[in-house]
Amino acid sequence: MEQSLIMIKPDGVKQGNIGQIIHRFEQHDYQLRAIKMFTMSQELAKQHYAAHKQKDFFDDLVAFITSGPVVPMVWQGTDIIASARDIIGTTDPKAAKLNTIRADFGTDVRHNAIHGSDSVENAKIEIARFFPDM
Ligand code: PPS
Repeated sequence: MEQSLIMIKPDGVKQGNIGQIIHRFEQHDYQLRAIKMFTMSQELAKQHYAAHKQKDFFDDLVAFITSGPVVPMVWQGTDIIASARDIIGTTDPKAAKLNTIRADFGTDVRHNAIHGSDSVENAKIEIARFFPDM
């Protein structure tokens, strides 16, 4: 069964949307396998977003993701990586489809409420990064 690393970002936590975001995945019959809440270190943030280190927004992204607690989770289900990205919506909440998490709880490309793994390979790496005991 496929697993994805889904992480509620600091804006989602601060705005009190943890429960509603979790509910979206429960409604789709996915199983929650792991969850925790902590504030990411600079080192972990840079590692997690290493693919974007050449982008002009990299420093802003690292500053934002370490600005408060995040809630990383492991969700499991059939085709969850692709399906979760449909439930999450596009990077820019203003362009996201109606009823997606980012359309409902995001603000802009930085404050977009949630992260989801983009491939099976990256899901494995991200799950090991946040939940090394799994
Ligand atoms: S790209 O360029 O298409 O590869 O990047 P994209 O998929 O749009 O975004 C990758 C992650 O970077 C975040 N992002 C930003 N953060 C801060 N400032 C700006 N301007 C910005 N633009 C994009 C975006 O939310 C993505 O985060 P994750 O957690 O991977 O979804």
